[in-house]
Amino acid sequence: EKGNGHKLKSRETFTSGLGTIAATLGSAIGLGNIWKFPALTGENGGAAFLFIYLLCVAFIGLPVMLAEFIIGRRTHSNAVGAFKKLEPGKPWYVVGWMGVLASILILSFYTTVVGWVLAYVFKAVSGSLSGIDALGARQVFNQVVGHPVYPLFWQLVVFVIISLIIMAGVQKGIERITKTLLPVLFILLVICDIRALTLPGAKEGLNFLFNPHFSGITALTVLIAMGLAFFKLSIGMGTMLTYGSYMRDDDNLIATGGRVVIADTVVSIMAGMAVFPAVFAFGFEPTSGPPLLFLTIPMVFNAMPGGQIFLSLFFILAFIATIGAMISMLEVPVAFLQEEKGLKRNTAVIVTVLVIASIGSLATLSGSVLSHVLIWGKNFFALFDFVSSNILMPLGGLIIAIYVGWVMGKKQVLEELSNRGSLKQERIIQAFSLVVRYITPIAIGIILLNGLGIIKF
Ligand code: PFF
Repeated sequence: EKGNGHKLKSRETFTSGLGTIAATLGSAIGLGNIWKFPALTGENGGAAFLFIYLLCVAFIGLPVMLAEFIIGRRTHSNAVGAFKKLEPGKPWYVVGWMGVLASILILSFYTTVVGWVLAYVFKAVSGSLSGIDALGARQVFNQVVGHPVYPLFWQLVVFVIISLIIMAGVQKGIERITKTLLPVLFILLVICDIRALTLPGAKEGLNFLFNPHFSGITALTVLIAMGLAFFKLSIGMGTMLTYGSYMRDDDNLIATGGRVVIADTVVSIMAGMAVFPAVFAFGFEPTSGPPLLFLTIPMVFNAMPGGQIFLSLFFILAFIATIGAMISMLEVPVAFLQEEKGLKRNTAVIVTVLVIASIGSLATLSGSVLSHVLIWGKNFFALFDFVSSNILMPLGGLIIAIYVGWVMGKKQVLEELSNRGSLKQERIIQAFSLVVRYITPIAIGIILLNGLGIIKF
């Protein structure tokens, strides 16, 4: 942090503690809560999966998030630049590069799904999903996903929206939009929850979500739960590092991380409570994977009074939720190009989006013309998802935890967590050091190797 006074001054920060939380929580909340969490919980045995997920959040998610905040705020730099500043001439900055890569890869398929969500917003609002049955829902889904041009168009719309926000900058773009959207999101979620929980038969859905059955849990399930924790909390790829770099000296890192993790988990469970009671109330199967959102939900909402309104609200909610997540991913390569390669912000955005759009069209087209192209038995879409959540992010998180736990000076870590001594949280800081040094890296290492079948326990 020496000798860069000039750069530091011209660099934006979030304007307040509230702004910091809004941006960070906005990054965490997204498709992960609404599309992945309920679907993965449904596929992998309900509450038993939820339990393992919560352990991953506490012992892996929160510590890695704090580690990223520490590196980010210490250096006030992008993911690559941060490690170059802290460890000049050493290869640690490769972690930053992995993050840039992961964010491009995730955005490639994430924007595909957000494109589908937008398509469904318009279908729901226009009433063309009303009265739909199982066969009809399947047909609509196949039309949206399986058309060679239609989903590309919606993906393009998504790119335009997020580019404009990111071009507006950290305060006027990221902070302002997340501060505005989060309350809206929360209100919509509460409305959907009330509707779902007052349906006859809602109890069965809650049982499914909260009664654990551990028989179906395998090494792969645990890997998937950990991958979900990484994806959900936007960690292991420099996103939280980059946002940490916009935090101010008086932001309390531990309190921010703790609040974000708790609020995000609450939102996931609220999304689960909007989905499963409704699914059970109308006699659908909870175990239908990612299509839960696009096949089951429209049918479920159709079967209830006021269906069209709630269906529209639900997809609008899903769309709003994704914005904070997408802009946080986009910010990783944009900040990198701006600070390391000297590009203007708008140029950096255009370059990044062009790269993501070319890779992203592979993900989108794997629903149609590229569906037969399989790598390791997965199409591009599933491959990008698996490689980023279950390999790149955990690997990045592992290295970040090791760095902060073992390599970065204890004094620096302490200074960041205590805001240079002005916050008294010794117990928590001690607990953090212990977890980040031992539990987090060992847990990630074992789950990763075991889940990928490299070692067997
Ligand atoms: N956390 C987001 C979600 O749950 O949808 C996804 C995400 C955002 C992943 C940002 C990674 C990231 F860097």
